[in-house]
Amino acid sequence: MCVSLPSATHASAFSKEERKVKVLIVGSGGREHAIAWKLHKSPKVDKIYCAPGNAGIAEYAECVPIGAMEMDRLVAFAKEKEIDLTVIGMDDPLVAGIVDVFEAEGLRVFGPRKNAAILEGSKAFSKNLMKKYGIPTAAYEVFDDPEKALAYLETAKFPIVLKADGLALGKGVLICQTLEEAKAGVKEIMQDKKFGSAGNEMVVEEFLTGREVSVLSFVDGETIRIMASAQDHKRAKDNDEGLNTGGMGNFSPSPFYTDEVDAFCQKYIYQATVDAMRAEGRPFKGVIFFGLMLTPDGPRVLEYNARFGDPEAQVVLPRMENDIVDVFEACIDGRLKDVELTFRKEACVCVVLASDGYPLAYEKGKKISGLEIVKAHEAEGYFCFHAGTKFGEDGSILTNGGRVLGVTALGKDLKEARAKAYEATEWVSFSNKYMRHDIGKAIDEA
Ligand code: AMP
Ligand code: GLY
Repeated sequence: MCVSLPSATHASAFSKEERKVKVLIVGSGGREHAIAWKLHKSPKVDKIYCAPGNAGIAEYAECVPIGAMEMDRLVAFAKEKEIDLTVIGMDDPLVAGIVDVFEAEGLRVFGPRKNAAILEGSKAFSKNLMKKYGIPTAAYEVFDDPEKALAYLETAKFPIVLKADGLALGKGVLICQTLEEAKAGVKEIMQDKKFGSAGNEMVVEEFLTGREVSVLSFVDGETIRIMASAQDHKRAKDNDEGLNTGGMGNFSPSPFYTDEVDAFCQKYIYQATVDAMRAEGRPFKGVIFFGLMLTPDGPRVLEYNARFGDPEAQVVLPRMENDIVDVFEACIDGRLKDVELTFRKEACVCVVLASDGYPLAYEKGKKISGLEIVKAHEAEGYFCFHAGTKFGEDGSILTNGGRVLGVTALGKDLKEARAKAYEATEWVSFSNKYMRHDIGKAIDEA
């Protein structure tokens, strides 16, 4: 038997692997909980901090009471604690340029710079980019004058879609069935400024029909690696009724994201977007979330986000096999072409437990019980990601938002994952618990 001794290169690679990193996560929702959970599984992580975090994230991270937009305080904290890697979960600080602020201080940070985060920050920018580079999307016009928008709408085909240009907490999109509705929409967005300065400009867009699919990807400026597809349920009530919400649950992968759809998107959308951003002098490093509509004429980009989706991260990260530290580092250093992403074959389903009344008025501060039961079943593929929780004075965990928890499970297929996720929703209680009962259901039975 010949036993080979480690070579010099081996040794240096090994010592590099031994280097443990201190990580700071910026954000406080279920997405950041999923990122913290994934990071804590990495043997390369020494310590995790999260600003500001929540009661679930506190299991893996030391939560520090600094807001996601308090950039100077975040930089000072990262320097004081000698943070090796900061991961920005949320859109607002990215669009406001937090990555540039960290980089200017010599700090390593995962996420797009301000000039690239505009891909999410301005719908007018992203639509113009897609038009210029021939990336398939809905036909559109951009307006900065409400009178001109109204004149255009007089002759438009209905339904039609109005979108506030800037960030509007996912609420700046209006689907208008009639001219009257569209006129009211223009008033809301551009004149009454319901979404603030996000409505200084407005995109008017062709209404598309089809299945919606989200696709998450890692990007290092040049190379793009697709993670997995997911599908969201945005309406508050079963059968897609009720008001729009931040998302009541979702699943991954989407059975509608077929090899044919993937081939189309690989050819016309993914690399084309990364190349377009580079050609514009705005190289994108971080996560691009593609919001796609699978129309009868083929996939179309509905929107880009410049970060993990919430709750897409909750169903995609439990399926990811790679060490996420390696992937973050490869994106920052422009080495993503050397990384192959691998995902478990299993499906993952997330059911959101919300406070009754969400997305309108709801009560907070209710005591949550049963979380330890989900925890005890983690090895069998059950997870509970906290979206809106906090610690009570006695150390108990209290509800602290409209969306409270994302009860999540892996299963051999969508059906099993859904059954497990719903089983686990019974383990957790709080007095005004509300959930949808059909997450992934119509799909499963389709
Ligand atoms: P967005 O923030 O652009 O993803 O829009 C939010 C939601 O509005 C999407 O998830 C779709 O359900 C819907 N939507 C956006 N654009 C269109 C469109 N052009 N046609 C039909 N529905 C759309
Ligand atoms: N789930 C949609 C988003 O994160 O924007």
